[in-house]
Amino acid sequence: MTIKRIAILISGRGSNMAALIDGVRSGAIANAEVAVVISDQPTAAGLERAMQFGIETVTIERQGRSREEHDREIVAALKLRNIDLVCLAGYMRVLSADFIDAYRGRILNIHPSLLPSFPGLNAQQQALDQRATISGCTVHFVDETLDGGPIIAQREVPVSEGDTAESLAARILIAEHQLYPEAVNLALSQLAEASTCQQ
Ligand code: GRF
Repeated sequence: MTIKRIAILISGRGSNMAALIDGVRSGAIANAEVAVVISDQPTAAGLERAMQFGIETVTIERQGRSREEHDREIVAALKLRNIDLVCLAGYMRVLSADFIDAYRGRILNIHPSLLPSFPGLNAQQQALDQRATISGCTVHFVDETLDGGPIIAQREVPVSEGDTAESLAARILIAEHQLYPEAVNLALSQLAEASTCQQ
């Protein structure tokens, strides 16, 4: 069984990143290692956390370049490290078509709603605005649509009376930290099966 190499892309806090690293270390994500954490923001708090875990960190800023140019540099960094799976964890940029093509079926994202409800930004506020009584989180494959790729796993989270976007986000985040490692483990086992079938 080969060890699959995961890259995590972040822009900020990195709590889902930490949950994935913990998942790999505890064995909840089997036969995998987190090979690199890449941020587009040099000040992302998650970078410091990744370093504390002893994981290689790389910052690749947009620096006024086109999305395509920026993504080319990121894809080159992924290829250089023989990455098998890319996990977006609070990565605040839309990926270019070339990036998605380079890793089609091997890019995952976590979103704080039960997709297809409430895609895009401020998903928790959208849920409150629509008076949803149940929200949650979704891990899905990334394709060219906005938060619209095939769903891997979802978890429901109740909306409480008097919730603010912040209180709902905090409750959903707890579920995210459980769901993302489970979904990554599932996706990796499917990838492993697919590669066995091709042999
Ligand atoms: C999470 O709510 C995630 O669902 C969304 O961005 C947030 C990132 O939080 N895509 P963190 O950086 O993982 O703490």
